This record gives sequence, C-alpha cells and structure tokens, in this order.
Amino acid sequence: MRIDIITIFPDFFRGVFDFGIVRRARAGGLVEVAAHDLREWTHDRHKVVDDRPFGGGDGMVLKPEPIFEAVESLTGGTEAATLRASGVRVVLLSPQGRALTQELAAELARAGRVVVICGRYEGVDERVAEMLATDEISIGDYVLSGGEPAAVVLVDAVTRLVPGALGSETSAVNESFSEGLLDFPNYTRPVEFRGRRVPEVLLSGHHAEVARWRRRAALSKTRRNRPDLFERVSLNDDERASVEQEEENF
Ligand code: ADE
Repeated sequence: MRIDIITIFPDFFRGVFDFGIVRRARAGGLVEVAAHDLREWTHDRHKVVDDRPFGGGDGMVLKPEPIFEAVESLTGGTEAATLRASGVRVVLLSPQGRALTQELAAELARAGRVVVICGRYEGVDERVAEMLATDEISIGDYVLSGGEPAAVVLVDAVTRLVPGALGSETSAVNESFSEGLLDFPNYTRPVEFRGRRVPEVLLSGHHAEVARWRRRAALSKTRRNRPDLFERVSLNDDERASVEQEEENF
C-alpha cells in the first residue's frame, strides 16, 4: 500500500516513520510513505497556499487549487466518487471529521492507496471536503494547530493493520477496541514492586482462571475509563454478576 501526505511542513515527517512497526513495514515493502510539500503545486512566485475567508473573520484558509492539483498529480483523479471506486482514499484531516476508530483504520488498511491532506490555519476551503476528499477524519475532540500530528497517528494506526506488518496476522485481533473493549492490564517482573504485588491469579499458571480474570479486568477498566464503550458491550450472566458485584463494592 502507498500513503502520500500533502502538507506545508514536509520536514515534520522526517524521521517519524523510522521506528518500530512502521519502519519495519516500510523496510519490508508492505507500505510506502511519502510526504509532499503543498507549495510544489502553486504557480506564483511566492508559492501562496492560503487566502482570506469569504464573509470575513480571523485567520487564513487553505486554497483549493494547489490541493486539487496535488491529489490529481498523485492519483490521476480529482473526484471523490471516482477515486474511491478505484481503491483510493483521500483523507482530509480536520477537527470537523468523523472520528478515527479502529474500524475505520482497518478499512483504510484495505485500500491500496491513501492520500492524506493536512489542514492548517483556520481551515481548508470546504470544496476539498465537498468534492475531493473521500473521508474527512478527526483523531479526537481537541484542536491541533494542523493535521500533521494527526497524519502521524493515522499512518501508524493504519500501517500496523496492513497484513504482515505485525509479527503474526492474529496479533491485532486480541487488542484494545477490536472487541469494543479496552485491553486487560499486564504485569511483568518483579512480583512485588514498591509494596504492590501482581494479582495472584496471574502467577497461578491456571489458564482458564487467568482468561476469566483478564476478561473481568478488561470489562472493569472499560466501565471505569470508557463508559461510552462499556454501554455497547454484551455481557454473559457471569460477567454481569461480576460487574454488579464490583459496583456494590464501591
Ligand atoms: N487538525 C486539527 N485538529 C485535528 C484533529 N483533532 N484531528 C485531525 N486533524 C486535525
């Protein structure tokens, strides 16, 4: 798969994809990542990429022409529906997008080609979202000064789901979110650290008991930290009883 990032700060990406799983996936030829300077697609002497917003207001808005030209020169198309039909996803990163979830990351990982547009300044001419982008995506309910850190997040989340990127094909299946639950807590040596012991069941060697503890701990952590996710989990009778028991203990 190939990921092209369109940005006014191509140097931002220097080195960030040279670590861990992303580095290995790139070295193994599973994923190719390239950052492109939006200014390459301007035609004026000052390489202007932004302009004042119609209707007034503070700040500057990224102009549509260089962005459309960039996507066209990278993919050959400028129409969202056509691009999507040919397996290309054009992602506009902005706080106005739909939320990046594990499910959406997996969907992007199945595309052959992803073009990522990093927004900047006060915004991006809306025609990019209306006509060019197949997806407008936000990485969370907070405002970054630009889409670049979000692009790093997206590339990481997508790359590790490309088949072969993780050690074994199954390792992504048991992770947080793949079942709508947070991951269970992990411990390693020492057994006692600063007066706190690892839960005894994990030292027991009792696989069924360990599995039961992990499921309950994951449920309990999800309920505490992510009540929004917990609401959507389906529980068996045993699990419901243990969660209710825990509620009583509070
Ligand atoms: N650009 C600015 N804030 C953003 C966010 N939360 N997600 C994606 N892109 C952004």
